[in-house]
Amino acid sequence: MSYYKIEDLQHYFKMYNKSIKEPKKFWDRIADKNFTWYQKWDKVYEFDMQKAEFKWFLNAKVNITKNCIDRHLSKRGDKTAIIFEPNDPNEEAQHITYSDLYVRVSKMGNVLRDQGVKKGDRVCIYLPMIPELAVVVLACARIGAIHSVIFAGFSSKALQTRIIDCDSKMVITSDGGFRGNKTIDLKGIVDDAVEHCPCVEKVLVVKRINSEVNMKEGRDLWIEPLLEEASSSCLAEIMDAEDPLFILYTSGSTGKPKGMVHTTAGYMVYTAYTFKNVFKYEENDVYWCTADIGWITGHSYILYGPLLNGATTVIFEGVPSYPTFSRFWEVIDKHKVTQFYTAPTAIRALAKESLEFVDNQDLSSLKVIGSVGEPINEEAWHWYNDHVGKKKCPLVDTWWQTENGGIMISPIPFVTPTKPTYASLPLPGIQPVLMDELRNEIEENQVVGSLCIKFPWPSIARTIWRDHQRFIDTYFKAYPGKYFTGDGALRDEVGYYRITGRVDDVVIVSGHNLGTAPIEDAINEHPAVAESAIVGFPHKIKGNALYGFVILKEIGETRIQDNVRKEINQSISDMVGPIAKLDKIQFVSGLPKTRSGKIMRRILRKIAEGDLSNFGDTSTLLNPEVVEEIKNERL
Ligand code: PRX
Repeated sequence: MSYYKIEDLQHYFKMYNKSIKEPKKFWDRIADKNFTWYQKWDKVYEFDMQKAEFKWFLNAKVNITKNCIDRHLSKRGDKTAIIFEPNDPNEEAQHITYSDLYVRVSKMGNVLRDQGVKKGDRVCIYLPMIPELAVVVLACARIGAIHSVIFAGFSSKALQTRIIDCDSKMVITSDGGFRGNKTIDLKGIVDDAVEHCPCVEKVLVVKRINSEVNMKEGRDLWIEPLLEEASSSCLAEIMDAEDPLFILYTSGSTGKPKGMVHTTAGYMVYTAYTFKNVFKYEENDVYWCTADIGWITGHSYILYGPLLNGATTVIFEGVPSYPTFSRFWEVIDKHKVTQFYTAPTAIRALAKESLEFVDNQDLSSLKVIGSVGEPINEEAWHWYNDHVGKKKCPLVDTWWQTENGGIMISPIPFVTPTKPTYASLPLPGIQPVLMDELRNEIEENQVVGSLCIKFPWPSIARTIWRDHQRFIDTYFKAYPGKYFTGDGALRDEVGYYRITGRVDDVVIVSGHNLGTAPIEDAINEHPAVAESAIVGFPHKIKGNALYGFVILKEIGETRIQDNVRKEINQSISDMVGPIAKLDKIQFVSGLPKTRSGKIMRRILRKIAEGDLSNFGDTSTLLNPEVVEEIKNERL
């Protein structure tokens, strides 16, 4: 398109090559120029890929909230840091300035300290998308506590697993949350979870929906009266560059969720740098990312990245369909949003509604639009580009993961020509490679391989909380000397990457990473179920949906089977969360297994996708007859 200048692309290549040839110099300069440090580093990085040990900005001392807030006060004290757009459009939006944020975070930090939270303690946060969520996260960072935000759509069981895993002494929640025309009983969910968490000493509760909730004497406290009493200046804890900043759980292909640990300085430098460049952020922009702060996208690109740059960031409590399908577009129009960052699932859902919803709003403030979380299919890409970006805003298809901390592969607006479905080129400092099954680097184009990264970057996760061996096994074993992403990708003739999807047992449903194992565990909890296997299959809106193959202990009549289907989904809802419910449940007499007893998911995936022509090599199957049966009774 006409807005690209070849010199800009050449400049990108120059920067990129510099970052690869002299990474120390490259990151040293960025870290030196853009932040406030108590003490600078002795060394830019030190790492050992085999042992999965990474250190950045060694021995530097810093507090990220000093950089997110205090640093801006002299120049931007009255500038809006956060625009809060409530679920109900009739409730007034809030504009929180950097000075307000300073006071609110300081007060909250003091409340946490008064309640016994110390540097290094874990605090679990289970809140809706309200300003207090941002304030609590930053307050933890202020006092050096490690925050672990748990997406408020997770069930009490999922919450409990995470609280116990990180041994959290405090949980912060609210009386409830608004979501479209529903209210959600968050406090009730926390009560159920905390019942089984002896580590939790205190539960602090924010008032949001004014509902009656149970307050357990000696454990539960309303947060507002404590805030009123608290002092509005709070000494920031001096953090080492490698002190943990937060733990964020992500699904694994097996077993319990993985508590990814991100540390302070590297995460700070990388999120600030990528925010500024990927969104081409300029001083008076109004930036909106629709993710939930419970996911890494919200951590890095609603909170830390924008605030580190002194930006105005929108926090939206609602959903795209409430009160109507024009809500996103109304919010853009209302707040004159300049950068809009969302997920392909939302785009697909909105693209199937009338065009009037989008056409009736003024979107002329937009400069850059972004996509994240799953592959964006060609149709959705064009709809987004044409009807939202009006073909004048670069569409940045950003590829990255919880484990990465920040965006890894993405076009740079007005620099990298965009190409539908391609995340395009790596950002400076990022060295992707594609690997074949024999662990050789793929040099050819248009061949799908396993996407790995062969050199560390500042915000790479440092470990899995209290399970470093699992960290090594999951990410650094399959391709020695490299970080394995779990994704497949291909590269075109100019070096653009296209992400083709997961190559492990993680399925991405509506942009949410779901591991198959915990869902199968939930299904197997049902007393009528003997065994189960789930796989993903393509879905028009959600990207992928889940298909369950379930062996019942006894084959009952149809009516009973229908009940079991409902109960299975209820069990999944209770144990994992409603996002993990199955779209299809097929009862089968057996599952295709290898002689060593491993379920051949490849075959189930093909059946679920409706690709019944060729199942590849099935000679190692113990029970090939079952494949025919499953195929014939496919839903
Ligand atoms: O499969 C990739 C997909 O989302 C996974 C990471 O999920 P999560 O850790 O929840 O982080 C999501 C937001 C950063 C990746 O392994 N993914 C993410 N972005 C893209 C993507 N797939 C294709 N294109 C993308 N732009």
